[in-house]
Amino acid sequence: MTRFAYVDGRFLPHDEAVVHVEDRGFQFGDAIYEVWSVRDGQLLDADGHFARLERSLGELRIANPKSRAGYQLLIGELLRRNRLRDGLVYLQISRGRARRDHAFPAAGTRPTLVLTSKRLDRVAAQLRADAGVGVITTPDLRWGRCDIKTVNLLPNVLAKQAAIEAGAVEAWLVDSSGLVTEGSSTNAWIVTADGRLVTRQADQGILHGITRASLMRQAEELGYVIEERAFSVDEAVSAREAFMTSATSYVTPIVRIDGRPVGNGAPGSVATALRQAYLDSA
Ligand code: PDD
Repeated sequence: MTRFAYVDGRFLPHDEAVVHVEDRGFQFGDAIYEVWSVRDGQLLDADGHFARLERSLGELRIANPKSRAGYQLLIGELLRRNRLRDGLVYLQISRGRARRDHAFPAAGTRPTLVLTSKRLDRVAAQLRADAGVGVITTPDLRWGRCDIKTVNLLPNVLAKQAAIEAGAVEAWLVDSSGLVTEGSSTNAWIVTADGRLVTRQADQGILHGITRASLMRQAEELGYVIEERAFSVDEAVSAREAFMTSATSYVTPIVRIDGRPVGNGAPGSVATALRQAYLDSA
């Protein structure tokens, strides 16, 4: 079966789907992206991701090439062509193709829109959540606007690779004060001894995760108290539980930080219950 991607106005076989060498996403990282989880053919937290997409474009003054309905139509068609019911959709919009010059190109340059989809092994992901995962910690080397979902992910890439090479699944990024900002591709949470949920405040230092926001609403409805504040690596290691959230990992318990066990070293009851609550509502 041919796998399709959408590039700049056309659905093409995945292997033929390319952007121009002078696309500003390729040359400057002058582009934003979004990722939706797809479950049973439906986009999870669809509106939240569309709202963040619009915000990222606005912050960088890239013209929005489509309406929400327009994106929904294209994504629906991509999922249909790829017969994809469980996995993810990736969307990227760059400022477009123009002669290389750092300053914005002339008005009228069309943004480049790219869409791909990918199947995910849900059984493997569930097994991983059942076992819990390990994280390492590493300095946060990123810029000052991590709230914009740009494709400039080099520090995240290097951090994730370091995690994998250390036998872990994720890297928690640590700011110059020793406080955890977030994971390389996930938001970071801990559960205190008295059962409060702690996750860093959504300022310009972290991506405002859509799963994070969605889970905060659900957790509050379930009666949890949430503290939006930074926490140190030491506080996390001695916390009752730790976990991470993202569109693709949902809620995944963290059982080791830099090789040190969190709690009793097994997935905690709070993270496990929140994962179930999130999936039940999806
Ligand atoms: N990552 N923090 C970072 C740095 C991220 O890249 C992501 C998402 C998150 C979680 O955000 P959300 O809940 O909206 O997925 C937090 C996506 C999945 C990725 O890059 O593939």
